[in-house]
Amino acid sequence: MTEKQRIKMIDLRSDTVTKPTPLMLKAMMEAPVGDDVFNEDPSVQALEERVSTLFGMDAGLFVPSGTMSNQLGIKVLTEPGDELLIDEKGHIYNYETAGVGVLSGVQIQTIAGERGKLNPDLLANTVRGAFDWEPKTKVLCLENTTNKGGGACYSKEELIALKKFADDHNLMVHLDGARIWNAMIATGIEASFFGNIADTISVCFSKGLGAPVGSMLLSTKERIAKARRFRKMWGGGMRQVGILAAAADHALTHHYELLKTDHDRARQLAEVINSKEQFSVDLDSLETNILLFDTKEESAMEFIEKMSAHDIHMIPFGPNTVRVTFHFQISEAEMDVIMQAFNAL
Ligand SMILES: Cc1ncc(COP(=O)(O)O)c(C=O)c1O
Repeated sequence: MTEKQRIKMIDLRSDTVTKPTPLMLKAMMEAPVGDDVFNEDPSVQALEERVSTLFGMDAGLFVPSGTMSNQLGIKVLTEPGDELLIDEKGHIYNYETAGVGVLSGVQIQTIAGERGKLNPDLLANTVRGAFDWEPKTKVLCLENTTNKGGGACYSKEELIALKKFADDHNLMVHLDGARIWNAMIATGIEASFFGNIADTISVCFSKGLGAPVGSMLLSTKERIAKARRFRKMWGGGMRQVGILAAAADHALTHHYELLKTDHDRARQLAEVINSKEQFSVDLDSLETNILLFDTKEESAMEFIEKMSAHDIHMIPFGPNTVRVTFHFQISEAEMDVIMQAFNAL
């Protein structure tokens, strides 16, 4: 793809494709910085304080990616020989290159949930460790919103039931909150509620919020101190990284409310898709900015290639499943082009 094509394209492949805005760049330029490996970067410290307070957690650790904060979360909750429970659609299971096996010596037990979500009934009889020859089930991993599950959110009641299950079975809870901000907007659940449910939380600033880089692990002071050591070991200790923390801080302040528009647009498009014979879409399951729909006669790839001729880009999520992800850098004019293109099909 040429640079010209890339600039022009309407990019619905992911909410990670946004570029820093001029105001974000200004905030980055003006950020006070120091050496964060020496624990001396004021912008990083301010962001860690801001986000950990928001979620009602003791401490936070700014890291380069959601993958690293998920992996650190599992590392500090487990020992080699342990096992974690996760929905079979979970990011940690599917897209983190078997990291928990390599980095933590932990085995994964997958469970077939609903749109990437688990519940206590599905978890019945999954917890092991009573005998020496069994893996010890230690962590329940939840994802909110679910990526491969099409942006589904947990309700408060569902989370309370899962927390009770975890407590009853001596499990720790890790929450992959890469898109927790979308879940908060869609459900109205306050951040501090998640802090009461999970022992470790990973949040990303680089998805719909639009920061170029950055995620954070939240937990107790003791676990974050431990995670800090592994972050260094894994090459994630960064120096004057306050410029990135400032971008994340700016994104949280100025882009959080914009997520609502992404959700509304996903629904607007889903309604058009629903009116077309050649697709099937489950309108009831659409909750946030990720829209999954099925192509009936042509393959997902054939349809995606057809749409790329209109400079509208999406990704396949299965042989007949297409994923569209909205983000705040789709302009009104681009939204019109998208709607016209789908309406004309
Ligand atoms: C649910 C979920 N968790 C974790 C990640 C990993 O984030 P990163 O790409 O920053 O490593 C992603 C990335 O899309 C994700 O969707």
